[in-house]
Amino acid sequence: MAAHPQLNRHGELRHLLSIEGLPRDVLLHIMDTAQGFMSFGEREVKKVPLLRGKSVFNLFFENSTRTRTTFEIAAQRLSADVFNLDIQRSSTSKGESLLDTIANLEAMDADIFVVRHGQSGAPFLIASHTPEHVHVVNAGDGRHAHPTQGLLDMMTIRHYKRDFHALTVAIVGDIVHSRVARSDIHALTTLGVPEVRAVGPKTLVPGDLRDMGVRVCHDIEEGLRDADVVIALRLQNERMAGGLLPSASEFHMMYGLTPERLRLAREDAIVMHPGPINRGVELDSAVADGPQSVILPQVRFGIAVRMAVLSIVANTSA
Ligand code: NCD
Repeated sequence: MAAHPQLNRHGELRHLLSIEGLPRDVLLHIMDTAQGFMSFGEREVKKVPLLRGKSVFNLFFENSTRTRTTFEIAAQRLSADVFNLDIQRSSTSKGESLLDTIANLEAMDADIFVVRHGQSGAPFLIASHTPEHVHVVNAGDGRHAHPTQGLLDMMTIRHYKRDFHALTVAIVGDIVHSRVARSDIHALTTLGVPEVRAVGPKTLVPGDLRDMGVRVCHDIEEGLRDADVVIALRLQNERMAGGLLPSASEFHMMYGLTPERLRLAREDAIVMHPGPINRGVELDSAVADGPQSVILPQVRFGIAVRMAVLSIVANTSA
């Protein structure tokens, strides 16, 4: 596999597999394209013909509400034909290999695969086995990457904070299992955010995260102090081998985002969360529904970012 299998020889985006390794200008191009799609939801006719005649296959091997639905809406607004493979009823459940499933869908003239998979690297594997005209977009693989979530988070931050160059961003919670945290960290550092903090207990925020250029804080007060942006993350229980946490209520007591703790951050700080939120664990309802929360606007940015990514990759040659 080439060093950057997602970029063609002109440095253009052919597949979106990971934020890691994407240059700043590629991130900005996606965000600027997405910005142009932001007013779409208000139009009477919410469609453009950019993907007319193209077939987008949504392959979600893991559960999802927001990501799957917003990818589907995005593809439909671009006038693509969208197919949602029902994995529970597909032949994968009869033992068919991932690459055999993909080869069969290619025989049905797929142009773009949107892939969510429990195994880190699955979208890379697919991208390295597909013909040149087929594009792959990672919708979340294992604990590795969730690039469109990273991009929609950057759109949200740029919208509320304008400039990345003077920001302090605190990512709080289960970082070790979070593909969102990894994609956010790569995007924030590429876009020039000077202070990215990873905040949580030692078991969920290991010290080697420092190698990614972040400041590790095991103390919640130190982590939140003067932050401009607070990104709360869910405890990813499905990825924990067990024993990493005493209990969800203990986590809430030590690291939960309460209105009192949020006062340590800047007065105009925004609170983000990729969803699904677990109220009363990583954040209180008073924060989730409070005036600083931008959790629902994040979802709206998600549609525009996914429209941008689908339209860019579809028009990039090998
Ligand atoms: C995240 C995911 O699936 O990685 N959610 C999402 O895509 N909106 C985070 C999570 O599951 O906690």
